[in-house]
Amino acid sequence: MKAITYDLKKKYNLHMNVLITGVSRGVGLEISRLFLENGHTVYGISRTESEELKILEKQYPNNLFFKAFDLSNPEDIKQSVFKDFVSNHIPIHVLINNAAVAYDDIVTNLHIDDLRKMFDVNLYSPMFLTKYVIRNMIYNRVSGSIIHISSISAHTGYKGLSMYASSKGALQSFSKNISREWGERGIRSNIIVPGYMETAMNAKLTQEHKNRIFKRTALKKETDMKSVAETVLFLAGEKSNSITGQEIFVDSGTL
Ligand SMILES: NC(=O)c1ccc[n+]([C@@H]2O[C@H](COP(=O)([O-])OP(=O)(O)OC[C@H]3O[C@@H](n4cnc5c(N)ncnc54)[C@H](OP(=O)(O)O)[C@@H]3O)[C@@H](O)[C@H]2O)c1
Repeated sequence: MKAITYDLKKKYNLHMNVLITGVSRGVGLEISRLFLENGHTVYGISRTESEELKILEKQYPNNLFFKAFDLSNPEDIKQSVFKDFVSNHIPIHVLINNAAVAYDDIVTNLHIDDLRKMFDVNLYSPMFLTKYVIRNMIYNRVSGSIIHISSISAHTGYKGLSMYASSKGALQSFSKNISREWGERGIRSNIIVPGYMETAMNAKLTQEHKNRIFKRTALKKETDMKSVAETVLFLAGEKSNSITGQEIFVDSGTL
């Protein structure tokens, strides 16, 4: 059944090669699973190959490829990602800049090394991935879609998240400008703004803290990762072909 879906998609030009960061767990794993279930091919990057990812690789041996790479080295992206992993012979239709780390502290404790490391992962690597994926798309004459995962903290503000939120704010401005720069070539760039989700990133939060966050949403609950993944799938494909330069909030209606 899987093979039929894959072949039919290829035949009707609906099949997508997807490059995604942060594939090992959380939102990145959920997004990857959804693309695979829909017959697409996923090229995933993270530092570690988690047990959940290994299970997915066994399920989709021909459609899921993994590269261990540390995004705190943006200067190595050209060689490690775009030469050793996805060369120009693989047309990339979709880039999903999902991986991020949270530098969670109040600004009076700010350290330059921690700040630089976070910006390498959250901003500079997404920028370099965008640079090389656009070159791949142009080379392969692909009208591609670039999707960046931001955070509601860039809009609402939370105590202790000013450094993290600023990396996301910069990513949002980058996406908007990329959409203007490359729209004529059919390349789109959009942002998804998720609210709080139950992932490793938030493992330290107490239930009381989470309840305070939920109270600030219209739906009074966490953001569903599946809803984020479905929105990414929509923004990746032809159904969203007139949407670019946008920020789509998937956040349980944060107030
Ligand atoms: N969770 C939330 O409440 C929430 C809310 C709003 C927005 N977001 C955003 O959603 C996205 C996904 O977050 P998440 O909650 O799924 O986080 P997560 O569970 O902590 O997963 C982060 C992913 O990024 C990868 N990663 C981290 N540092 C890396 C590095 N230096 N090099 C390569 N890969 C790295 C991790 O893999 P390895 O550790 O194996 O490298 C992992 O796969 C992020 O952009 C985040 O800012 C999350």
